[in-house]
Amino acid sequence: MANTFFDKYGSWAVITGASSGIGAEYAKQIATKGLNIVLVARRKARMEALASELEQNFKIQTKIIECDVAIDGFHDIILNAVKDLDIGLLINNAGINCEGQFFRGDLARNTQMIQVNVKAPFVLAYEFAKKFVEKGKGGIIFTSSISAFNAHPYLTHYAATKAYILSLAEGMNYEFKDKNIDILALCPGMTKSEMTKGMKDSLILMEVQPVVETALATLGNSAVVVPGFINKFQTFVNSRVLGRISARNFSGALLERVLPGVKSKKGKSK
Ligand SMILES: NC(=O)c1ccc[n+]([C@@H]2O[C@H](COP(=O)([O-])OP(=O)(O)OC[C@H]3O[C@@H](n4cnc5c(N)ncnc54)[C@H](OP(=O)(O)O)[C@@H]3O)[C@@H](O)[C@H]2O)c1
Repeated sequence: MANTFFDKYGSWAVITGASSGIGAEYAKQIATKGLNIVLVARRKARMEALASELEQNFKIQTKIIECDVAIDGFHDIILNAVKDLDIGLLINNAGINCEGQFFRGDLARNTQMIQVNVKAPFVLAYEFAKKFVEKGKGGIIFTSSISAFNAHPYLTHYAATKAYILSLAEGMNYEFKDKNIDILALCPGMTKSEMTKGMKDSLILMEVQPVVETALATLGNSAVVVPGFINKFQTFVNSRVLGRISARNFSGALLERVLPGVKSKKGKSK
């Protein structure tokens, strides 16, 4: 029975959205466990800098795949690039958001968000899960969000994409339990990254380090994890105390406070 992270999920991990934020932190923490890292994102220079840091500090190998996961055929690019590598872990993390009033949002940007946040993680999970079944082991972590648990006005469509991911991960977790394949939905609250740059209320922003530590420590033990006390508390209050209707009213009011101009203006998207 495999008992270390490397035995279970080595020898290579594929991380999407590895050029910044939570994805870059995943790369660092997984490298400390001795796994080689495949970095996937669009910004090659960022990944090159991170890859050389990882190789130097942790004596591992890296591979960079410069790929826009919103384009048709993105998965062929990734699968081709890793076909000779022993992949044991997939971190389905790349994501974008759309903030602001639903009817003011840009249709192209919202459609791209479905491709990045929904289609890409689904297709990669499908392809790698098949490989993991053949191997008899593996792991997949999806980056969902606490916004997945109830409707979030002004992040309406983003929250809907994350609800899809949460449901997908939970269903997969059950199906793969007896196959030695671990599936986890990480549901962070607001976390310091490029996505939250310039956000008003820094008190509720978590650092990426504990967010990723929580995910890696939970993989194999649970289907869903919410990192941080405040996020856990908010999720508990929303689901157990307020219930669905009050939770969406509360979330809307909170977002009006922490996202400047979100109600009256177009809002921002990152
Ligand atoms: N920060 C938060 O408060 C928060 C809360 C809950 C959940 N999340 C989720 O956490 C995940 C990581 O986000 P983050 O907070 O770390 O933000 P971030 O710093 O903006 O990172 C987003 C990552 O996704 C990649 N990406 C975006 N579009 C892509 C595309 N079309 N093709 C390939 N890669 C793409 C970006 O790389 P390139 O730009 O180089 O392509 C980047 O590496 C996302 O799924 C996000 O929804 C974040």
